Amino acid sequence: MSDLRDLVDTQVQRWVRTDIQKLAAYPVPDATGLIKLDAMENPYTWPDALRHEWADWLGRTDVNRYPHPDAPKVKAGLREVMNIGEEWDILLGNGSDELIQLIAMALAGTGRTILAPEPSFVMYRMIAQYLDMDYVGVPLTANFELDLETMLAKIEREQPALVFLAQPNNPTGNLWGDEKLRRIIEAAPGLVVLDEAYTAFTQADYLGWLEDYPNLLIMRTLSKVGLAGLRLGILIGHPSWIEQVNKLRLPYNINSLTQLTATFALEHFEVFEQQTRELVTLRSDLYQALKALPGLTVFESEANFLLVRTEPGQAPVIHQALKDAGILIKKLDGAHPLLADCLRINVSSPEENSALVQALQGILG
Ligand SMILES: Cc1ncc(COP(=O)(O)O)c(C=O)c1O
Repeated sequence: MSDLRDLVDTQVQRWVRTDIQKLAAYPVPDATGLIKLDAMENPYTWPDALRHEWADWLGRTDVNRYPHPDAPKVKAGLREVMNIGEEWDILLGNGSDELIQLIAMALAGTGRTILAPEPSFVMYRMIAQYLDMDYVGVPLTANFELDLETMLAKIEREQPALVFLAQPNNPTGNLWGDEKLRRIIEAAPGLVVLDEAYTAFTQADYLGWLEDYPNLLIMRTLSKVGLAGLRLGILIGHPSWIEQVNKLRLPYNINSLTQLTATFALEHFEVFEQQTRELVTLRSDLYQALKALPGLTVFESEANFLLVRTEPGQAPVIHQALKDAGILIKKLDGAHPLLADCLRINVSSPEENSALVQALQGILG
């Protein structure tokens, strides 16, 4: 067996791109048995009656057939709940992760650059690496605001094919302000994607900006509102852009069960809206509770998570102590210089939020 292993390794080293060999796969920690506050999920499941009705729908699906290639019912449901006008087209992805990849593939090429403020969503950089594109991360200020002058200078110098702006931003949770965003979109020579993954938790809404800019696409997801398991990302924009990106989509990328479940869930979207409204209220409660703890700086958030900064060197200690107490949060310390001593915590149900606060009280003394 070890002979085979050696032979395989030789083949791998010879044939797999050397830059890919150096990469690490996206890490997802095991959360078995833990209160899971690390991945921006909605903590609530569905009311029982809805679950039974859904199970009934699923039971009548024929999975021997390929799914509808264009998922028209899902798109109709999305148009309705998100108020997407007929003048825009929609492209669906296996999560918005897949859409980021498809957009980047459409624009990739020698010397082509992806630019994004940093810290932001890590897949922008990772997908640039997968596609062997250049990636330029422009640091936010120490307060995680957008450094407009530096952004504009970098855009001028690098002429990026693609700019990603996550609003609210992950992992900082904040908005950067309409004026700055407009200046960036206007200065960008290429495509700008406004990533509204957390749109359900903020009043900010940039869909209307599609009218103003020929180089803008809006990206959303159903993951954060309570359907993370479905993997359904949504790209909205002018038909000419969507037509090109759609060519790179693999056939049948949205499977039958996802199409059916999404259609059903969109018909009952008030359930998810109610849950997200509640999470917004719980966010301010958790913000106050964390702020009252010694040694934590808490940043204001427009998303379903809070970024906190610990005393120097304490983030890994607190992260591990919470894990020992049965609670998983995200350690950001070490991920980017601006995130030194930072942790990211999901806003969850009242019970899980108080379990977290209690555990932190014990740890921080
Ligand atoms: C800003 C942002 N965009 C996109 C995504 C990806 O979402 P999904 O692939 O679940 O649709 C995330 C997930 O954390 C995110 O934070």
